[in-house]
Amino acid sequence: MQAPQEKTSKSLQELGVTQRSQVDSLFAEVQSSFDIESSKEFIEILWKEFRDEWLGRKSGVLSQITDNWLKLAPPELKPAVGAALNKLRAAVETKIEERRLSIESSEEKWALARERIDLSLPGVVRPIGSHHLIRQVFQQIEDIFFSIGFSVVEGPEIETPYYNFEALNIPDFHPVRDDMDTFYLDLPKGATQPLLLRTHTSPMQIRTMENRQPPVRVIVPGKVYRRDNPDATHSFIFHQVEGLAVDTDISFCDFTGTIEYFVKQFFGPAVKTRFRPSYFPFTEPSVEFDVSCPFCGGSGTAAGGGTCSKCKGAAWIELFGAGMVDTAVYSYVNYEQKKITGFAFGIGIDRLAMIKYSIDDIQVFFQNDVRFLRQFP
Ligand code: PHE
Repeated sequence: MQAPQEKTSKSLQELGVTQRSQVDSLFAEVQSSFDIESSKEFIEILWKEFRDEWLGRKSGVLSQITDNWLKLAPPELKPAVGAALNKLRAAVETKIEERRLSIESSEEKWALARERIDLSLPGVVRPIGSHHLIRQVFQQIEDIFFSIGFSVVEGPEIETPYYNFEALNIPDFHPVRDDMDTFYLDLPKGATQPLLLRTHTSPMQIRTMENRQPPVRVIVPGKVYRRDNPDATHSFIFHQVEGLAVDTDISFCDFTGTIEYFVKQFFGPAVKTRFRPSYFPFTEPSVEFDVSCPFCGGSGTAAGGGTCSKCKGAAWIELFGAGMVDTAVYSYVNYEQKKITGFAFGIGIDRLAMIKYSIDDIQVFFQNDVRFLRQFP
């Protein structure tokens, strides 16, 4: 079948139509080519093309028929052409509207199908992270000290030299400052005092005693900073839990008993503890606590013979520093030196975690490698 435009672009005269019957068959031809076209499958954009082809104001088939056939028709054929055109127009308009409605509803169905939520499909499983091992060890230590009446306090990581050093009985000239030299902050001009990243959690001993009267029993978990070059056992940032117990009648036995309780709770009841003399400016006497090697049972010998690789045959592993609070410290916080006694300790968390979980490089704590993190869910 020819496209109707072939004929509708010409006048009746040019088409050789002179009789009514010819008019009828001409319209029948147009109607049947419309019927064929309108029965095709449409999507919206093709339907629009189809509509414009037939109903377009300028070059639509019906406008052409009006212009070329009706307006130019000889008077005797005009009524017939007019009537046939009206009939055709009604049929075309009805059909095109019908198709529009059916496209609309099928597209709606598609959209609904696309957006339908299938509740039976498995969901998207997003991996949930876990607590970092350091956080887990903090928690274990906090739980142990909670069970014997300690509470947690936290303090600033940016400190003044007064709290980090002076009030802890470490004056300006003291050589221990060399070991603990740290990061000083660049300050705006006119700042009244220097600021530094705390080298230990001990400043919180002072801040706590400034704010509370005895009895004091606190632990202080937190980050500390030192100007250490990184290697397997050093990092410029690491973690400590400070402990402080001060009252009117705390003895050295309370001190060692508390530490022993903690160490057994943390490593298991089979371990033993011992302490050796040490030195800290803010404790007197000062000690260093060791734990019997949890890997070789404190024998120094590996299970299969030979020296234990963890304690290097020493049978003991150094744990952390501690001591009875030096009375000089009480004078900085206006405690009555004569009536007060107490003990303090500073546990290196990274070191403790490395011993407990057989980790041989402190750097893994800071690298965020999921292959490491996943081992401690
Ligand atoms: N602050 C000390 C350090 O970081 C540890 C310590 C704390 C020692 C409390 C004695 C008492 O090395």
